[in-house]
Amino acid sequence: MEYFASSDIPAVLEYTKNFYFLDDNEFSIIEKDSIKFFDKNLNAIAKNYKTIDLNYSSSTKNEYAHFMLKEIFEQPKAIIDTIDKYILSEDKNKQCVHFQESVAQKHYATNLIPSSLFNFSNCNLTKYDLINIKQIYIVACGTAMHVGLASKNIIEKLCKIPTFVEIASEFRYQDPIINENTLCLFISQSGETADTIAALKLAKQKGCKTIAITNVIGSSITREAQFSFYTYAGLEVSVASTKAYSCQIALIYCFAIHIAEILETTNFKILEELKEELFNLPEKIQTILQKQEEIKNIAKQCYLQKDLFFLGRGIDYAVSLEGSLKLKEVSYIHSEAYASGELKHGPIALIEDGIYVVGILTDSELTLKTISNLQEVISRGAKTFVITNTKLPDNNFDFIFTVPKTNTFLSPILSVVPLQLFAYYIAKEKGLDVDKPRNLAKCVTVE
Ligand code: M6R
Repeated sequence: MEYFASSDIPAVLEYTKNFYFLDDNEFSIIEKDSIKFFDKNLNAIAKNYKTIDLNYSSSTKNEYAHFMLKEIFEQPKAIIDTIDKYILSEDKNKQCVHFQESVAQKHYATNLIPSSLFNFSNCNLTKYDLINIKQIYIVACGTAMHVGLASKNIIEKLCKIPTFVEIASEFRYQDPIINENTLCLFISQSGETADTIAALKLAKQKGCKTIAITNVIGSSITREAQFSFYTYAGLEVSVASTKAYSCQIALIYCFAIHIAEILETTNFKILEELKEELFNLPEKIQTILQKQEEIKNIAKQCYLQKDLFFLGRGIDYAVSLEGSLKLKEVSYIHSEAYASGELKHGPIALIEDGIYVVGILTDSELTLKTISNLQEVISRGAKTFVITNTKLPDNNFDFIFTVPKTNTFLSPILSVVPLQLFAYYIAKEKGLDVDKPRNLAKCVTVE
C-alpha cells in the first residue's frame, strides 16, 4: 500500500486515481499501511476515497523541446475536445467523433441547425434564474484573469448583462456588492488557486450563484462551486499557461451564446454565425502554428532586450496583457502592456531609441487608432512588431505577423498564439528553463 500527500490531482495521477479530499481544518496521519483523518478537535472522522476518472496520457514531451511548445501546438485539439463536450447531440459516437465530422458540423452542412447547439445541462440555471441575474463577476488570477478580460465583451454584448472582471486576491478583501442576483464565474486551470477559492467562498456566503471553470476534474474549486464546467485541454505541465487560456475563452464563448439564446438577447442569425465560426478556429490556429519560423526569427532579433511594451485597444488590450505576462514569466524580460490610448498619459516617456513595442491590431473598429499610437512610438525610435488580421496600408512597421480573420470575440484565441510563441522562442534563445521559470509554481495554493 502506498499513500501520497499532494496539493493537486495531476501531480500524482500517474500513481493513483483514488483520492481522499481534505476539507478546511481537517488533517490526516499517514502511516506505513494506514491513513487516518481528524477534524480540528482531533476527533477521528471517516472518509471514503473518490476515484477520479482522468487519463493524462500526454505527460511526455514527445518530439517537442519543451512542454510549453507542445502545449501551444496542442491548442487546436484542446479546443476541439473542449467544445465537443458541450455540443448537444444524442447520437454522436463520442469515442471516434472527429470535430470536422461532429454533429454540429453536419447540422451546418445540411442547414439543420439545432435551436440550441450547446449542452450546459450540468448547470441547471433556469430561464427564470437567468432573467434575475443582474450582474456577472469573473474572478481569477493571472492568465485565467486575462481570460475574463478577453471574455467580458462576449457576455455583455450577447447577454446584455453587466460583467465585471476582478483579480481574486483583490476581490476577496473588497467586500464586493454582490448578492443572489449575481452570477460569479471562477476560472482556474488547476482548480487549486488559494485566492480564487477564497473569493468563491466569499461569493457563496453572499448568496451568489457560482460556476467554476477548470481543467482539473475533482479539483478543490469544483467541490466549492454550485456548478462546474470543465475545459478538456489535457494536462498542462508547463508553468506558463497556454492551452488552458484558449479553451477557457472558447468555453465562455459557448456559454455566452447559450445564455443569449435562452434570454433571447441577441438576434438568432447573429448567434448562428458566431457558432459557425467556432468550428473554423482549430484550422485557423494551425495556420498560425505553421508560421512559427517567422516568430522564431523575430525572437532572435530581440531576445537581448531589457524592456518591451505591448499595446492594444479593446479586446486587443486584454491580449496585450497576456502577451506581456507570458513574456515576463518565461524570458525574465521586463514588459508592460498598455491600452494604446493610455500611452500619452505617461508610458510614452519610457519610449527610447531601439526599444521594442508589440502592437496587436485585430479589432477593425480600433485598428487605425492603434496604428496612430504605434506611429508615435516609431517617431521616438521604437522598433515595432505588429500582429494583425488585416492588410495594413503603407506602413513602416519592422515586423508584421498576420493571423487569420475571425469575429472579434474569438480573436484573442488567435492573436495570443504568436505571442505565446514569441515568449517561448525568446526564453529558448536565452537558454532558460522554459517549463519551470524561476520563482514560479504551477499551482499557487498559498495566498
Ligand atoms: O490554476 P490557475 O488558472 O488558477 O492559475 C492562475 C495563475 O497562477 C496562472 O494563470 C499563472 O498566471 C500562470 N503561470 C500564467 O502563465
